[in-house]
Amino acid sequence: MIPSYANFGGKIHGGILLSLMDKAAYACASKHASTYVVTVAVDHVEFLQPVEVGQLVSLLASVNYVGKSSLIVGIRVIAESIKTGEKVHTNTSYFTMVAKDEETNQPTLVPPLLLETREDARRFLEALKRKEIRKAYQNELNNAKTSLAVEEDLPLLAGERCVLGTI
Ligand SMILES: CC(C)(COP(=O)(O)OP(=O)(O)OC[C@H]1O[C@@H](n2cnc3c(N)ncnc32)[C@H](O)[C@@H]1OP(=O)(O)O)[C@@H](O)C(=O)NCCC(=O)NCCS
Repeated sequence: MIPSYANFGGKIHGGILLSLMDKAAYACASKHASTYVVTVAVDHVEFLQPVEVGQLVSLLASVNYVGKSSLIVGIRVIAESIKTGEKVHTNTSYFTMVAKDEETNQPTLVPPLLLETREDARRFLEALKRKEIRKAYQNELNNAKTSLAVEEDLPLLAGERCVLGTI
C-alpha cells in the first residue's frame, strides 16, 4: 500500500480497499460468466483492522454462488507486514454481481457452478442462507420504516445523545 492511498490518520482509506475488492469481484465473476458483469450489492463491509502504508494486501476471491444471472463472490482481505511476515485478516465481504449481455444490456444466464469440494458446497449453502437472511432483513427494514410514527416514537429518544428542537 503506497502513501497516496492513506487518509489523514496515516491508515489506508477504506474506499481504496473497496475499490480493489470491486475489481477482484469483477475479475472473478466475469471469468466465470465469460461476459461483462456489474456490481449490484455488497454484503456487509466492516473493517476489523486498519491497513498500514507499506503493508502488502492480498485479496482472495472465489465465486461462491451462481443464480440465473447473478453471482456472489466472496472476498477475503489480508494485510501482511513485509518486515515480519505477520498477516492480519482485515475483512471478508460478499459482492453480488450480475452478468449482462453486451448487446442488449440485459441480465444474461451464467454457467452453473462446479462444486468440487466440501468447502465449495459449504460456501454455496452459506450464500443461499445469506440471501434468505438478507431478504428477511430487507422486509423487516421496510416494515420498520413504514410503521415509524415520529410523534408517537419521540419518547424513544429519551436517553439518546440528541437535543430536541421545536419539532
Ligand atoms: C443489476 C440489474 C441488471 C438488475 O436488473 P433487474 O431488472 O432487477 O433484473 P432482474 O430482476 O432480472 O435481476 C437480475 C438478477 O439480479 C439479482 N438482483 C437484482 N437486484 C438485486 C439486489 N439488490 N441484490 C442482490 N441481487 C439482486 C436478481 O436476484 C437476479 O438474480 P438471478 O438472475 O440470479 O435470479 C440492474 O439493477 C442494474 O443494471 N443495476 C446497475 C448496476 C451497475 O451499474 N452497477 C455498477 C455500480 S454503479
